[in-house]
Amino acid sequence: MTELHTERLVLRGWRESDIAPWAAMNADPEVREHFPDVLTREQSEASVARFRTELEQRGWGWWAVEVRATGGFIGFAGLDPVDDGLPFTGVEAGWRLARPAWGHGYATEAARAVVDFGFESLGLVEVLAVTTATNLRSQAVMRRIGMTRDPADDFDDPDVPEGPLRRNVLYRLRAEDHRPVGRVGNTGGR
Ligand SMILES: CC(C)(COP(=O)(O)OP(=O)(O)OC[C@H]1O[C@@H](n2cnc3c(N)ncnc32)[C@H](O)[C@@H]1OP(=O)(O)O)[C@@H](O)C(=O)NCCC(=O)NCCS
Repeated sequence: MTELHTERLVLRGWRESDIAPWAAMNADPEVREHFPDVLTREQSEASVARFRTELEQRGWGWWAVEVRATGGFIGFAGLDPVDDGLPFTGVEAGWRLARPAWGHGYATEAARAVVDFGFESLGLVEVLAVTTATNLRSQAVMRRIGMTRDPADDFDDPDVPEGPLRRNVLYRLRAEDHRPVGRVGNTGGR
């Protein structure tokens, strides 16, 4: 499976030792502020099983993110085809970090590596990113990597009940507008 390496991070396959910190961050109300609920341990374990299968079968998807200097697991980042039932199709980039890992530029660094991979290795013509209208930190990551939002693309998530988390924004980055900067080197074929 492909690993993505940046100056400070490695995006890699999931290890057993990632499951406990992954479950802890998904049970943190601050990390889940812009989602309808926190996740149970079982839900986090099931998500890792899904990510592993997708990474093995496809070679890309939701990678575990590790800080190279410490070897510590800090969250996930990756690419995935957008869910069915939304008013657009394509491949979206995403990221989620444990609270202590916020404020270091790690999400932006991982996001850059992910979109570089999407354009250079997968040949995508466009990468999307979606979040709630309330999630300003995630939208800041999107803007830092050069994504732009057209308010005409805003939409209500049909899976989310009426309330502040229902309204979503869509950011786009087209291949011709992307300048690769974040990638130190990728390793494939492992
Ligand atoms: C979305 C999320 C990953 C963003 O994290 P973040 O820390 O705000 O984003 P970055 O990692 O890019 O860090 C940027 C911040 O680090 C600072 N920073 C510090 N050192 C830095 C460095 N060496 N390089 C770049 N930025 C640095 C930046 O100035 C910026 O600070 P600011 O937010 O005060 O302006 C995080 O809030 C999160 O995991 N949220 C919960 C899950 C979630 O909502 N995911 C998205 C769903 S779509």
